[in-house]
Amino acid sequence: MKKKSRLKKTSELHVEPSAEGVVKLLLKDHEAMRVLMKQVKSHRATPAKIYKSFELLEKLVLSHVKAEEYSLLNRIDHHPKFEDHAKESIEEHNIHENILKGIRRLRDQDRKITQMKIFCEMLKDHIDEEEEELFPQFKKYSATSTRKKMGTLFLRRREQTRLNGEHLGSMND
Ligand SMILES: [Fe+2]
Ligand SMILES: [Fe+2]
Repeated sequence: MKKKSRLKKTSELHVEPSAEGVVKLLLKDHEAMRVLMKQVKSHRATPAKIYKSFELLEKLVLSHVKAEEYSLLNRIDHHPKFEDHAKESIEEHNIHENILKGIRRLRDQDRKITQMKIFCEMLKDHIDEEEEELFPQFKKYSATSTRKKMGTLFLRRREQTRLNGEHLGSMND
């Protein structure tokens, strides 16, 4: 008997579809990350402002990756069409988490800020790659209804991992 792909299983999930599909929701987070990364890398920003922006970026990234893996990557990482990109994204998430732990431990302010900016460059490459390769490929292959069900899973997980009262997705300063 032919083995069902994990993507197929997702399309059979008994969850209500969300108003927006998972790709659209992921892109919204990426957009909020880009705003925060710009603030971290700004030449005019004070160290205090950079610290604050990075703190928000870190919370957003940690919440985003959990929800991205749960709703999308873990469901397609055995699918021949997507496994390379999905596995690469997951491993990059692990690397990012380790780097964030290292930055948290640093005491020297100059080194900390330099590493925050380097992290932003790595994060930018990561989200550019997801947006240019994985997301369009997945969108082309998957049904709208599947993406909307995955959207529900994404929102649920995102809600569990975000900190109370924060609306990171709407940051625009
Ligand atoms: Fe990612
Ligand atoms: Fe992402």
